[in-house]
Amino acid sequence: MTCCHPESSPSPSPEGARAAAEIPAHPLDPLRADEITTARRVLEEAGKVSPTTRFPLVLLDEPDRHAAAAHRPGDPVARRLRITLHDMATGASAEAVVDVTAGLLLSWRELDVATEGQPQVMFEEYEVVEAIVKADPGWLKAMADRGIDDTSLAVCAPLAAGSTVIERPGRRLLRCLTWLRCDATDNAWAHPVGGLVADVDVVERRVVRIVDTGPVPVPAECGRYEAEFNGPARADLRPLEISQPEGPSFRLEGPLLTWQNWSFRVDFNAREGLVLHRIAYRDGERERPVLHRASLAEMAVAYGEAEESRNWVAFLDAGEYSLGRNANALRLGCDCLGEIRYLDAVVSDDLGNPETLPNAICIHEEDHGLLWKHTDIFNNMAAESRRSRRLVISYIATVGNYDYGFYWYFYQDGTISFEAKSTGIVQTSAVEPGAGSPYGTEVAPGLLAPYHQHLFCVRLDVAVDGLANTVEELDVVPVPPGPDNPAGNAFTARTTVLADSAEGGRTADTTVGRRWRITNPGSLNRMGQPVAYTLVPQPGPVVLAQPGSPVARRMAYGTKHLWVTRHRADRRYPAGEHPNQHPGGAGLPEWTAGGESLENTELTVWHTFGPTHLPRLEEWPVMPVEATGFSLKPTGFFDRNPTLDLPREAKGGHCAV
Ligand code: NI
Repeated sequence: MTCCHPESSPSPSPEGARAAAEIPAHPLDPLRADEITTARRVLEEAGKVSPTTRFPLVLLDEPDRHAAAAHRPGDPVARRLRITLHDMATGASAEAVVDVTAGLLLSWRELDVATEGQPQVMFEEYEVVEAIVKADPGWLKAMADRGIDDTSLAVCAPLAAGSTVIERPGRRLLRCLTWLRCDATDNAWAHPVGGLVADVDVVERRVVRIVDTGPVPVPAECGRYEAEFNGPARADLRPLEISQPEGPSFRLEGPLLTWQNWSFRVDFNAREGLVLHRIAYRDGERERPVLHRASLAEMAVAYGEAEESRNWVAFLDAGEYSLGRNANALRLGCDCLGEIRYLDAVVSDDLGNPETLPNAICIHEEDHGLLWKHTDIFNNMAAESRRSRRLVISYIATVGNYDYGFYWYFYQDGTISFEAKSTGIVQTSAVEPGAGSPYGTEVAPGLLAPYHQHLFCVRLDVAVDGLANTVEELDVVPVPPGPDNPAGNAFTARTTVLADSAEGGRTADTTVGRRWRITNPGSLNRMGQPVAYTLVPQPGPVVLAQPGSPVARRMAYGTKHLWVTRHRADRRYPAGEHPNQHPGGAGLPEWTAGGESLENTELTVWHTFGPTHLPRLEEWPVMPVEATGFSLKPTGFFDRNPTLDLPREAKGGHCAV
């Protein structure tokens, strides 16, 4: 046995002040305003834009993994945009790819909306639809039948139609439920108008069907949550200041962020919101990739009421409502606390013009409690401990009644985690006061908050020490009693390689501690094992809608907690390219038919998680944050605890040794 000797500690190099030189362009840079303007001009010059043309979605056509990895500073950068167009007058829709560097229209394809789905819902349509509904005689009569003659303060929520077809497929529809307000500032969600749906053809600009299952009393009680409606504020909170007098420890060079050995590129788009590219950890002299790309690629909210006016309510907030476009402008001290850096995001508006979303992305550091500690009972109780600090990159999107915060966390020990925080106001419907319902919680007299599922789905283009990876499922299992287990105490871990795309859809199982290990068979740790990252889930129920039902077909990605697919550039979204009014079956169900090897190759890992939400009285009139997520933990990726080099006490810390 040999004893260890203290390492001589070289003095750390000072944080060099880097000259604010111009940052070279990179193929994965966020979309720029001038690129959106150029794309629109190219389409105009090609005769593809009329006064009624709209641009539901404008995205960067991202370069493939190899091209992005091969790029070196100063290399020429060619940029292409993928654009979905929609004609408000004719309903015709198309997809275009524009090279904005060369100023060329590269491709143009008409969409068959009846089979391929509709472009996303546009902001302009929200207002159009409300005006159409409020002028419709059928809706006015249904309101009058409910004793509501003054409809000036009614709000008609423009809701995705799912797979509803009225008379003919391919019709662009929004379905409207109605809520009332006492005045223009009232919380409308407190006053749902029950049993009434107005179906709007957005192209014909008329209500094409009214579903009226009969009046239900409109809940009368107010649902105000602002301070002025809620009595005296607590007076016993003293200031809590977060101070980083020398500034934060991360460095931003354009969209390239570095912090505590981590580096990645921050990106944002109208559909998925925050996107992180080329996430890597510097391990000594080696820059070791972990993920090529990470985003929340889809999220569904599916409601469980059986009644005809509500049994279709289910939304895909990224694919139908463009989650990123709905980003909040964050406010210091309110949404994020501490030494914050904000980034703006650039998206296209409905008209194809650039729009800047100010303070869309928040970046900061947080103290995260204890990282590790040991007190040596054999050595005078000598104690050694380190505090954990994490880097947080987040944004918040408001989609109708709900507000969602999305948080990527990076830890000093190589862990990455993600949280989706749901807050805002629960969706509501009306019931006879006191009658309750098997499908929801009566949160105020006559006000039902229906049960529902949140099904988030992240897309992880994995790159653990390189692009060729394999995914294994790991269960802990008891060993049967017998000669190998004479005392009956033994248990072991069982790994199963997910070898073929037909095995790529997996369900979590907490009874066996199931997790999934993303390995690189070509990169071994010092014990001779493939390096790995483990996806540790926090599973909730998968889709509860009946197999084959419209909701289950459209949200098929939510029938499994994990999907593994061969990476392909056109496999972007778990519910397919155009989920709005898509009948279902697109996306992951198509890509997991079988016959594709998943071993030691380029993979995308898709993870579904999220709560099945049974609303509580305490979640009315505004809901405290409910957080859900997952972790990616290095598992033999490092040869030992990678945080042994953390100083005993961070500069300016409070640990008095
Ligand atoms: Ni919920």
